[in-house]
Amino acid sequence: MNNNHKVSVWEPPFIQPHRVGAINKFGNRGAKENVMREIFGVSIDDLVDQFGSPVFVTSEHQLRMNVRKIRRVFERRYNQVIHGWSYKTNYTGAICRILHQEGSWAEVVSAFEYEKARSLGVPGNRIIFNGPHKSKAILERAIAEGAYLQADHMDELKMIEQIASEQDRIVKIGIRINFDTGFTEPWSRFGFNLESGQANEAVKRISMSPHVRLTGLHSHIGTFIMEPRAYGEQVKTMCRFMRDLDDIDHINIDTLDIGGGFPSKNALQRVYLPPDQAVPDINEYADAVCDALVEETRYLEQSGRALPRLIIESGRAIVDDAQVLITSVVGTKRLPDGRRAAILDAGTNLLFTSYWYNHQVQMTREPGGVYEDTVLYGPLCMNIDVVRQSIQMPPLVYGDRLVVSPVGAYNNTQWLQFIEYRPNVVLVHEDTNVSVIRRAENLAVMNAQDEMPAHLSYRTMADEGSLPSGKTTREHLIRR
Ligand SMILES: Cc1ncc(COP(=O)(O)O)c(C=O)c1O
Repeated sequence: MNNNHKVSVWEPPFIQPHRVGAINKFGNRGAKENVMREIFGVSIDDLVDQFGSPVFVTSEHQLRMNVRKIRRVFERRYNQVIHGWSYKTNYTGAICRILHQEGSWAEVVSAFEYEKARSLGVPGNRIIFNGPHKSKAILERAIAEGAYLQADHMDELKMIEQIASEQDRIVKIGIRINFDTGFTEPWSRFGFNLESGQANEAVKRISMSPHVRLTGLHSHIGTFIMEPRAYGEQVKTMCRFMRDLDDIDHINIDTLDIGGGFPSKNALQRVYLPPDQAVPDINEYADAVCDALVEETRYLEQSGRALPRLIIESGRAIVDDAQVLITSVVGTKRLPDGRRAAILDAGTNLLFTSYWYNHQVQMTREPGGVYEDTVLYGPLCMNIDVVRQSIQMPPLVYGDRLVVSPVGAYNNTQWLQFIEYRPNVVLVHEDTNVSVIRRAENLAVMNAQDEMPAHLSYRTMADEGSLPSGKTTREHLIRR
């Protein structure tokens, strides 16, 4: 539909109960009242006409600005900073390429992600390989190609040792450690626990091996962490462990990898304040990390020794606001409890993050009528497909286009091929030209992975009668 006119919708009168939470001191948090006709400098109508609905729209400019900013704020405070792009956040090839062009390494957590990084031209020695499952085959390749491995558990450590010995190499590795910062729930399922002595056991094991050398410590304390002081504690703990290793075991750690977890400007569910007020500025995180790092490594500087390099693996803070989803209304209803409802052509199949965020939703035409509590459903024939349980929206009509944002982190990777095809993902280039960076799926794509056993390989139901035996499939099977 053309979105330039105001739409008035007549509805029969109804009685609607007041609901707790629909209005709070921030007003009725709903669709922003400013109407969006363009996104990233491109007309929304043109995007939908050309690439269909729904469509993910990514901004190259925003992505570059975000990664440059995060690097700058850390580099201003500490000398040696590496950004490892967390592939799982969004591994669309063009997005990874842009970040690699900006100097980011690849941070990968599986054979698939490792292979993807290599296929994008990232050399092994600019890949940080994390994660709890690294098969022997991919470890063999990663070790041969000089990737930087961070071991997650003892079985993996043994495997790395074995491969290093088979390849007759000395492999420098990091270990992932977990511990309590006092601010966040420790992610103790990943890595070696510090408090229980597991981390020391891993160090001992490595020290005894002629083929593996410990040069790095890694931890990732969680995700969407709203408390910068948590990072200060994380860095202190890592540095103190590093110093113990130096003093007691004469192990020289040259890499501290603090993982990711800096929040984006998305609205976490159950957080009362809006993101602009709730989410600290990235400078506060950089202060917490680098102040602790500088303080805790002063002894190295004083004795003229090299300081460790700092790796950050920030994901969502870099890509989330560089992408939006345009979706269309395919139906409207009034629920028996009085709430308005709209069915969209994009649901939780595409917006996995709607399980934990209340995304911003914007109209693309002048709203007419009264804003009301509205449920936004997706297109799936499944009760759980709710993009938003409650949002204040004006009356919506078939064909309305809505802009959902920010959606750049964890949707293009966690989306489901479930019931519907996945749509186009497009990139708005810096000169505002637009190109597809991930093609919409179609039947051929879906069928490409199916294999048909010979006895089921008739092409149409009509062909079924002409099986070799002259029987139908069912008869054929019963006879056997
Ligand atoms: C090891 C590791 N590094 C980096 C990230 C990226 O986190 P975020 O997107 O919150 O920055 C994750 C996410 O879970 C992770 O597990």
